[in-house]
Amino acid sequence: MQCPVGDDAIRATNDDASECKRCAINLGYWQDKFINFFVKAGERKAPEINRGYYARCTAVGLLIEQFIKRVGEECQIINIGAGFDTLYWRLKSNGLLVKNFVEMDFPNVTAKKCYAIKRNKTLLEQIHSEDGEVKFSPTDLHSANYHLVGVDLRQLSNVQKKLVDSEIDWSVPTLLLAECVLVYVEPEHIRSLLSFLASQLASALFVNYEQVNMDDRFGQIMLSNLRARGCALAGVEACRDLASQQQRFLDTGWDGSKAWSMEEIWNMLPREDRNRIEKIEFLDETELLQQLFQHYCICIGWKDRGQESLSLADLRIDP
Ligand SMILES: C[S@@+](CC[C@H](N)C(=O)[O-])C[C@H]1O[C@@H](n2cnc3c(N)ncnc32)[C@H](O)[C@@H]1O
Repeated sequence: MQCPVGDDAIRATNDDASECKRCAINLGYWQDKFINFFVKAGERKAPEINRGYYARCTAVGLLIEQFIKRVGEECQIINIGAGFDTLYWRLKSNGLLVKNFVEMDFPNVTAKKCYAIKRNKTLLEQIHSEDGEVKFSPTDLHSANYHLVGVDLRQLSNVQKKLVDSEIDWSVPTLLLAECVLVYVEPEHIRSLLSFLASQLASALFVNYEQVNMDDRFGQIMLSNLRARGCALAGVEACRDLASQQQRFLDTGWDGSKAWSMEEIWNMLPREDRNRIEKIEFLDETELLQQLFQHYCICIGWKDRGQESLSLADLRIDP
């Protein structure tokens, strides 16, 4: 079989991420009643991969939960490069409601997600509201508080238009999420996107999960593996180290930024949770897991000047 290249290879990373999540969820790492509606079972993944996904999902979840608790439910979430992520449905089924939720990805990816939602009663039920109808186009979906839009992040004017179509309110506290997305996009496009968001939003938290320490030997091997799969990783320069991850926010108008390697994050998660996870799949040898944890990070950027009461700079991973 021929390997996809360029944008096709980038879109294919969503299939891989969704399969990895489904594998870890079905093994009991965390709960998600919705992932199986979007992706079929694939091969069983290595324990290191499953544990890595658990650490990422848990840490991102903790930040999202704290954000909603701090700013209240009158807030928005924009998931950039959302793929088949199920966050909207998971939050809703946990009773965490937000005013508006927007997902963006390439139109080919959102078309598949629209199709999956349209033919699934459980997914649709969570989107329907008493007053609103659900409007579908082949690539976009608009409802009262959930919007799924197809757009190339490199085309800022289209991104702006799609956000307007999704009824974004720039005055409302907004959480932006990008998990393994920015690394695929040329730095100038990410800078424009981050500057635009910082200039429009009065208060916001950006949660970015992706590669870090890409200049060392292990990082170079990771890069060449991804390149062999056709992914050029155009945005890798921001993944040099934790400082370069933070600097990208500081250079584009955000008030502050903080970054943790996944190694630090794993050690911040509650001991009882780590004990449970370590029993799901036992690891004789933890060197590979450590290397993986050292090469991924979460970097947050915030904007809350004039709204110090939100104290977004104090958000923590260790609960
Ligand atoms: C590795 S997947 C991650 C998906 C999801 N965030 C997750 O963690 O499961 C990367 C996603 O970013 C999207 N993406 C990358 N570059 C993009 C671009 N220029 N415009 C829109 N989406 C893009 C891909 O289509 C893909 O769905």
